[in-house]
Amino acid sequence: IPVEPFDFIVFGGTGDLAERKLLPSLYHRQRAGQFSEPTRIIGASRSKMTDDEFRAFARKAIAEHVKPEDTVADQVESFVARLSYVPVDAKTGEGFSKLKKAIGAHEAIRVFYLAVAPALFGDIANDLREHGLVSPNSRIVVEKPIGRDLASARALNDQIGAVFDEQQIFRIDHYLGKETVQNLMALRFANALYEPLWNSAHIDHVQITVAETVGLEDRVTYYDKAGALRDMVQNHILQLLCLVAMEAPGSMEADSVRDEKLKVLRSLKRINGAEAPRSTVRGQYRAGASSGGAVKGYIEELGDGQSNTETFVAIKAEIANWRWAGVPFYLRTGKRLASRVSEIVIEFKPIPHSIFGEGAGNIQANQLVIRLQPDEGVKQWIMIKDPGPGGMRLRQIALDMSFAESFQERNPDAYERLVMDVVRGNQTLFMRRDEVEAAWKWIDPILGAWEDSHQEAQGYTAGTWGPSASIALIERDGRTWHESD
Ligand code: BG6
Repeated sequence: IPVEPFDFIVFGGTGDLAERKLLPSLYHRQRAGQFSEPTRIIGASRSKMTDDEFRAFARKAIAEHVKPEDTVADQVESFVARLSYVPVDAKTGEGFSKLKKAIGAHEAIRVFYLAVAPALFGDIANDLREHGLVSPNSRIVVEKPIGRDLASARALNDQIGAVFDEQQIFRIDHYLGKETVQNLMALRFANALYEPLWNSAHIDHVQITVAETVGLEDRVTYYDKAGALRDMVQNHILQLLCLVAMEAPGSMEADSVRDEKLKVLRSLKRINGAEAPRSTVRGQYRAGASSGGAVKGYIEELGDGQSNTETFVAIKAEIANWRWAGVPFYLRTGKRLASRVSEIVIEFKPIPHSIFGEGAGNIQANQLVIRLQPDEGVKQWIMIKDPGPGGMRLRQIALDMSFAESFQERNPDAYERLVMDVVRGNQTLFMRRDEVEAAWKWIDPILGAWEDSHQEAQGYTAGTWGPSASIALIERDGRTWHESD
């Protein structure tokens, strides 16, 4: 369904995010017939560039990041014809008058997408206001990191909130735009099957793994200051945890969903200094092998001196509420791990009593494995009788749903859904201010405990599943990390 015409202004329009995600996603949405005329896309960045140079940049972005079978020449041409460019220096405020001129008196929906460092959020918001560019029809989109702790997150939210109303602010967590993450809500709330079992009476524990094989990539300055806890857990992993743990919202309306997520975040049991060494593991990769080749260790990649930044984190989290008391949520994420896999494992409790003799073999607890990426799908592991006349022998098999096998459709990138939700003004998949701050409220004491105790990041060889302490974290409780296949 086409949306109303809009002006999409990208600060950081010549940057990495615009090239890899925003321009290709907007192109896909145009190709899908969602644009109405006149829809315009304006790049704004410090680089001195002409409209034509920006169009060439977009053509290249599409050539490199859109599959050839989806690249239709006349669609590409009509897409780049919507583009223009204005050099803007967010630090000095230079260029905003030109931007105003470029936008003109156009009364369309106006999206300001800030694909820039958070230090510039406040200045840009102020300049937009001073130049009269903010109307009730305007929206602002910000990317993480929203702060590096609760205090700095509040400061950033204050700066943006001084210019835009909460209903106009779209804080992106791109995990929420992933098809498989949205499918979590469908699985939980469009099926009668799971909900009665979805609690501490029937679930033994939950595992959330977001494992990557990439290393630092080109993000040395950002990453070394952030580390895995801030980079992945504060946002993506906690959002996944919320979707698994929240109560059924009254509807899919934005505040209904966000109210329920907020309750989960506020129920997370605080991990204090005394608990941190038992409930958290920090790791940093050393040289090893990944994706079939030798790779450097984190410090060598960094190229200078020493760093105690964690590239891996595992946490035993608990949610102190009626539904989840006593059910651990084991979380882990890291760079340069053995394989790229994001998944959520729900392990149900064992059966109370076996009627089968010892010869039947072990009865494994049922597991629901929700595979977010790659090889997206859902597997429900159950016990069955091994076929054949050899008596009652039991075996575990998976009821297996693979997205690739079940659907022909292209799996759209998370940004495609999210950019159009911004235009539509739908905030369901965006983080509200209080959510971001509640997440930091849980993260801060962990950061503080690590700092106070000088908890070192433990070395792990690139291409493995992280430090041995992360195995001990779960095995100490008589459980094991799910081995993805
Ligand atoms: C980003 C993190 O938010 O998510 C990166 O900053 C990480 O460090 C990325 O690599 C992972 O996203 P995806 O979509 O590739 O799983």
